[in-house]
Amino acid sequence: MKKFLLMAVMLSTHALLLQAQQLTLRLDNAGTEVSPVLYGLMTEEINYSYEGGLYTQLVANPSFTDMVNPWGGRRGRRPNADAPRVTVRPERWQLTDTLKVRVRQNRQDPINKANPTSLVVSYEQAGLGLVSEGFWGFPIRKNTTFKGALYVRKPAAFNNESSAPSPVSSLTIALKSADGSTTYAETQLNGFTNAWKRLEYQLTIPATQADTKDARLFFIADQAGSIELTRVTLYAPSFKDRKNGLRVDLMEMMAEMHPKFLRFPGGNYLEGNNFANRFDWKQTIGNPDERPGHQSPWGYRSTDGLGLLEFLQWAEDVGGEPVVGVFAGYVLNGDHLDGDYIKPFIQDALDEIEYIIGDASTTKWGALRARDGHPQPFPLHYVEIGNEDFFDRSGSYPNRFKMFYDAIKARYPQLQIISTVGFNALKSKDIPNPVVDLIDEHYYRNANDMYRNAFQYDSYDRTGPKIFCGEWATREGSPTTNMNAALGDAAWMTCMERNSDICVMSCYAPLFVNVEPGGMQWESDLIGYDVLNSYGSPSYWAQVMFSKYLGDRIVPVEATGIPKQTLDRNDEANAVFYTATSDSKDGKVYLKLVNAVGKAQPLNIKLEGGKKVKSKAKKIELKSAQPTDTNSIDNPRNIVPQESTQKVGKDFAITLAPYSITVLVIE
Ligand code: AHR
Repeated sequence: MKKFLLMAVMLSTHALLLQAQQLTLRLDNAGTEVSPVLYGLMTEEINYSYEGGLYTQLVANPSFTDMVNPWGGRRGRRPNADAPRVTVRPERWQLTDTLKVRVRQNRQDPINKANPTSLVVSYEQAGLGLVSEGFWGFPIRKNTTFKGALYVRKPAAFNNESSAPSPVSSLTIALKSADGSTTYAETQLNGFTNAWKRLEYQLTIPATQADTKDARLFFIADQAGSIELTRVTLYAPSFKDRKNGLRVDLMEMMAEMHPKFLRFPGGNYLEGNNFANRFDWKQTIGNPDERPGHQSPWGYRSTDGLGLLEFLQWAEDVGGEPVVGVFAGYVLNGDHLDGDYIKPFIQDALDEIEYIIGDASTTKWGALRARDGHPQPFPLHYVEIGNEDFFDRSGSYPNRFKMFYDAIKARYPQLQIISTVGFNALKSKDIPNPVVDLIDEHYYRNANDMYRNAFQYDSYDRTGPKIFCGEWATREGSPTTNMNAALGDAAWMTCMERNSDICVMSCYAPLFVNVEPGGMQWESDLIGYDVLNSYGSPSYWAQVMFSKYLGDRIVPVEATGIPKQTLDRNDEANAVFYTATSDSKDGKVYLKLVNAVGKAQPLNIKLEGGKKVKSKAKKIELKSAQPTDTNSIDNPRNIVPQESTQKVGKDFAITLAPYSITVLVIE
């Protein structure tokens, strides 16, 4: 019997293979609307996404909060006289001479509560320097003007010293090569007093300078003496010239993705490792010099210079709207709060929404947004309660969700509320659909699993809540993904796009990675960069192709001779994936085809219904010889979409190149 079954399966597979591969596009039945918010962005502070990435403030550890101290403790005392002498210095800062420049972290009389630390620097002679490493250098480019500031004062007497150390009267601030031998730009600061002063400075790179990241920011004494510094900043030019803004190249790359929304602030970054380090949005607005910052769960500190307003402006500047995740009382170490204890967090969420959409003249938080420079409310339709609360083993989420849901809907009935656990978990606590507007599903898979799930939404229950695929990625390649991952991504996007009546929103994660050694905490990311340059992975380009070429109606596609991949059946030899949309305004048809295997695949395409078709279609193709081929910081455009034309008609043939993603724009 078994033998007989096996034979039958083999024969039917063989028959399928012999049958010509054909797709029939039912243009007349293109009635279902493509979700207008299908493709968006997801972000959080991971892989040095903001600090050392998108955020244009370039000085790391600007308030000398973190010290490198091998002996532990604040002062770094040697445990005994035999232990070697070590230089205690601030993290990501160096001293040009570790014997003749001495530094001490100070906590007395700070500039404000948010910045409780400063650094007293004592130079034994002129010409010595305290040196900021930046985040693996600084981006030196001709004609660039950097704008900086620092708080500075003459140091007071310390502990049992009888008098204050003699101060330096001026400091040279310079961008130089790491070895100090080349100066790219410099300026002098003086006029120091006993009280803190905030001094601004500018550094302009000359027109003759070649691009380099071999750069450090030096604070050089013009004579022997001491000085005290804190909140030392240097800003690169920003996208749209925003103050405290975001990096131009990365913003341009995101704009190219035509995102309809930005999901923020996480991810795990929303929750934090513990309550103190959750994303506490109220600490992230106003003057950046007065933001305390906090520890990101990904192992480094965030200054929160990129805070709530900057997230909102980021969404606006790339043409999307915010999708805000509100802290919901659960943190990554497993602690949670519930009942009355959660009420302050619900109030925080309501205040946050008011900051985003409240009227500038009649609401408290709307007025603060106007004070911060954005009188117009931002558009907001979606609010997410927490992040990945299926990890909360206490079972508290359904109740926490309901409390947040009720409070938000009572005040803002127009908002759609997203749950981070599946509907069934909520249903068990009698939280009915449609109370759950959307469910956030996360999928991190390899390419093969993407193929096996590429028809997953075709048979989803259409009566339940809508799906927000809030984190997804094919995780192959490091630090950024390779072509195989792009193929998995594209297969998955055909599924989401074909089913965008149910899967209404989606966003890839993680978005960014700093490719310098130590920059990555999570492998297989979308966009890579160092301080100077950036590039898109093949997955990035696949997303550009999918989101740029998108109609507003789903075109039903019938496949013959193309085996459907499923969890039980993975016909790797013939992995072809497809989706089509049409534009109700201009009649254009966007057909997306994915050939996930290493052989060319012929396809017949039939257009049923619809009007006359122009004989040539625009063809956009992303392909590579090997699935492991990729882009990198040194080879950023190895795999990028190529444009050509394709002969088309109501019935035409096309051959899909091995390992390729193709978009046809048929008019
Ligand atoms: O995207 C990386 C992490 O994956 C996110 O922070 C978290 O939500 C998920 O587990």
